[in-house]
Amino acid sequence: MAAPLRFPDDFLWGVATSAQQIEGGRNAGGRGDSVWDHYADDPSHIDDGSTPRVACDHHRLWREDLERLKWLGVKAYRFSIAWPRILPTGRDRVNPAGLDFYEALVDALLEAEIEPHVTLNHWCLPQALMDEGGWANRETAGAFVDYAEAVTARLGDRVPHWTTHNEPWCVAILGYEQGAHAPGLRDPRLALRAAHHLLLSHGLALPAIRANSPGSEVGIVNNLSPVVPVTGDAADLDAARRLDGSFNRWFLDPLFRGRYPADAVEDRIRRGHLESAELPFVEPGDMETIAAPVDFLGVNYYSRIAVKAGPDGEPVGSPLSPPEELTEMGWEVYPEGLTEILARVHRDYAPRALYITENGAALADEFEDGQVHDTRRVAFFRDHLAAAHRALTAGIPLRGYFAWSLMDNYEWSQGFTKRFGLFRTDYETLERMPKDSAHWYREAVAANAVDDAR
Ligand code: FCB
Repeated sequence: MAAPLRFPDDFLWGVATSAQQIEGGRNAGGRGDSVWDHYADDPSHIDDGSTPRVACDHHRLWREDLERLKWLGVKAYRFSIAWPRILPTGRDRVNPAGLDFYEALVDALLEAEIEPHVTLNHWCLPQALMDEGGWANRETAGAFVDYAEAVTARLGDRVPHWTTHNEPWCVAILGYEQGAHAPGLRDPRLALRAAHHLLLSHGLALPAIRANSPGSEVGIVNNLSPVVPVTGDAADLDAARRLDGSFNRWFLDPLFRGRYPADAVEDRIRRGHLESAELPFVEPGDMETIAAPVDFLGVNYYSRIAVKAGPDGEPVGSPLSPPEELTEMGWEVYPEGLTEILARVHRDYAPRALYITENGAALADEFEDGQVHDTRRVAFFRDHLAAAHRALTAGIPLRGYFAWSLMDNYEWSQGFTKRFGLFRTDYETLERMPKDSAHWYREAVAANAVDDAR
């Protein structure tokens, strides 16, 4: 067998979760409703008709989950703060009980020498702000700054890593254009506004976070994928360019170059989503605010996207042949794509540091005699970590890796039908059970190395 691939001594091994997906405790401790609570109240929005009202009940069971983090030996834990726990009505009244909850978690993590990697917005916008237009309303950007201020005023002296937003593409495009996520809208014009206000709020919040948390690092997390055409035909190549523009570059170019990508703007004009290259939602100074330097970019990587041109030239997802290995999400298992996307981001945007803030696989785990032998997930993590190691060898400033996810949880519009966890969650008893992948990950963290299967 090939020699193990060793990681740098300070490589940050972690696991990730998000508040809405694990906490439950919908109105516990004065928490307000989020846009996802509201959206999931209509069972037709969620594949299994379930709600995140209880989820993994982490709000109650967090001390046990902390023991799991300790057992895994991870150096960092990426989690998010539920905005409506802190500001139940979105504005004005800060709820001290919400801050107390996260303060206890942060202190317990520090005590265990696990670095908190805290995300402010992993999608649970207070429903009260949604009632005023949500991210399509420019004033939501200001409300986000107030929220960032409230959280970092309390925790800024202790938290070393802050993320403003998780995956603005998903919020804006799945939520406001494709109707696939909360709030379930199908309006491309509103989606472009929402995307801009998310990016703007990121830039506006940076000074407040830095002032309250000197010495910490602040960044943003994007979901990124290489986009490949299924053939070399000009139409398919152009379809791949278009999807790369709307999916990857629409969010990276403003953050790192201070402008929206011209070709992708043209694509939106052609589709009738914009009148002209004068973007109506951009006000003077916005792009400079958005492009203020960040300390890191977090990359959530799950797969590459293969496309061909539809009849109107628009990109249509299309399987590559021969048929690849797919996860339960229908996503191709393609570890090389992780090296590719990191190399591309490093080459084109050169963020100071990179983290893989999410990577994982939904699989139909079989529960047998109290065990889950998830060999495919073990192979998935091993091969993606080997791909991350290749990025390090190529000189890319990759600082850490977070497995998605600590435990099976509420997978948004797919409810409880998709299992991503290192731990299996029994949604009847709320027990968590380590899968083979949890044992494997624990050994990899301890060894600071993985085997190279190639
Ligand atoms: C990402 C989300 C995360 C989880 C994974 C599977 O898009 O950030 O919350 O749902 O997908």
